Amino acid sequence: MHPPTAEVIASGINVVDFLARPPAGVVAGGKYETPEMEVQGGGPASTAACVTAVFGHATAFLARLGDDPISRLSRSQFAQAGILPDHLIMAPGERAGVSMIQIDRASGERTVFYNLHDYGWIRDEDIPLAAIKEARLVIVDGYDTTAALGMLRAAASISCPSIIDLEHGETGFVHECISLASDVLLPLHTARATTGQDTPEAALRALAEIGTGQMLVTDGDRGSWALTPDGILHQPAFETRVVDTNGCGDAFHGGYAVGLLRGWPLPLRMEFAAWVASRVATALGGRSGIPDRATLRNELHRFSPALQAAASSLP
Ligand SMILES: Nc1ncnc2c1ncn2[C@@H]1O[C@H](COP(=O)(O)OP(=O)(O)OP(=O)(O)O)[C@@H](O)[C@H]1O
Ligand SMILES: [Mg+2]
Repeated sequence: MHPPTAEVIASGINVVDFLARPPAGVVAGGKYETPEMEVQGGGPASTAACVTAVFGHATAFLARLGDDPISRLSRSQFAQAGILPDHLIMAPGERAGVSMIQIDRASGERTVFYNLHDYGWIRDEDIPLAAIKEARLVIVDGYDTTAALGMLRAAASISCPSIIDLEHGETGFVHECISLASDVLLPLHTARATTGQDTPEAALRALAEIGTGQMLVTDGDRGSWALTPDGILHQPAFETRVVDTNGCGDAFHGGYAVGLLRGWPLPLRMEFAAWVASRVATALGGRSGIPDRATLRNELHRFSPALQAAASSLP
């Protein structure tokens, strides 16, 4: 048994993404050299975990993986991102998911094909209760419902902060997640589907009827909104030269998590999250663009004075 060492424990769908931005003029049946091609780990909570790891927070990911090529690739991606292997459970015959993502050169639109054959879904007994007691933050997405509910219930029972990212889900599940999490960060389309409200403001107010946590919604390059006691706070997206917005939402959650762990106030958490997300849009794939220290130093001048001061202390 490893001693519990992780500050952050994340879990959710765990996939290996094969991404390509094919050349213009593709015709079905042809064969094309495609210089812009990437293979990397993906998944909302798993990519958010890579961001907390990059910014110096000991981070573990809970997943069940076998020893097939896809699972080995997934393990090596976690290792490369600095994710602790403590909660990567060896489960022969089970594996990570695979997804093929095609990015349209003209519109930036993504077409995703995915496969979850023999996927290693988390079981109730896998939830690392002792490690969660030692952790400072739990991050989950909604694709593995056992992992999400198990982790959120454990975190809530000891008042450990928790961030959720729900892209869709059955109503009862979504409501329970929202009521358990300390920080509810949803894409606007999920907030709309959950609340029946159209605008960010109305959706946020309706979410606050379901749970007591900090409510936030994101909407691509229109930015993000949070509900505060003084009203609605809007954080614009950072302007950037967009290559691929795959993973912007995931990275936003990771950047917000870093701010939460640092004890930053809400406006700084949102600003930093928006910046991390905008960097991810500059490269193919959800992880290639995750900024490092050097990028942070080069871009500090784009931050508000308060975030400049706070971010200068990041390791
Ligand atoms: N084109 C963009 N340029 C700059 N920032 C962006 C862009 N798209 C998204 N972002 C940033 O990322 C945040 C989250 O994006 P979005 O609302 O698209 O998440 P999502 O729907 O969960 O995306 P994903 O498909 O990555 O999960 C936005 O609030 C914004 O700050
Ligand atoms: Mg998302």
